[in-house]
Amino acid sequence: MEFEAVIRSRRSIRRFRGEGIPDSLVAELVDLARHAPSSMNGQPWHFVVVRSEESKARLAEIKNRYCPPEKRAYQADFLRRAPLIVLVCVDRERSYGREVENGVLATATLLLAAHRRGLGAVYMSAYAADAPGLAEEIRQLFGIPAGVVPITMIPMGRPGEVPAAKQLSNLEKMIHLERF
Ligand SMILES: Cc1cc2nc3c(=O)[nH]c(=O)nc-3n(C[C@H](O)[C@H](O)[C@H](O)COP(=O)(O)O)c2cc1C
Repeated sequence: MEFEAVIRSRRSIRRFRGEGIPDSLVAELVDLARHAPSSMNGQPWHFVVVRSEESKARLAEIKNRYCPPEKRAYQADFLRRAPLIVLVCVDRERSYGREVENGVLATATLLLAAHRRGLGAVYMSAYAADAPGLAEEIRQLFGIPAGVVPITMIPMGRPGEVPAAKQLSNLEKMIHLERF
């Protein structure tokens, strides 16, 4: 798929077919994700690949528990049914105070790379500044060292749904020439 088409057609996928995803394909995605920009070129990333049913269920439970009331429509139960979940983590020491940005940029690259290879995925936060317990519980669950912070969790697999068309916000209202 041509690069622009990858960007334009990527959508969040929350239903997956049962098909397994080989480790080699996950390694290709991580190989691409590590090309993302990072503060001071720290490349602080660690990627934890989660396939165990028990771990997926624990993640869903933690994510649901930290879900604020206004976002209850986005229940995390579907995490249990994803063939795998990639936790994108960053090493604080190599993040230069930009943990979230570093993690999010690698995640964006990972999402596009996954879509380009026909995989469905969706962005989910593993870190919330106003709820530090979320990242902390995830860190403990997966034996992540104290100086490494989980930033996102990305369930992925072969898509089992075609999302309804998305209405994009108006381009003219977003662009401001010289001044807002
Ligand atoms: C910071 C952030 C947090 C998100 N959190 C969730 C989430 O907790 N659960 C979920 O199902 N989707 C989550 N999403 C996915 C968004 O709902 C989705 O990107 C948005 O509705 C636009 O749809 P699209 O990705 O198909 O273009 C999140 C996306 C971002 C960028």
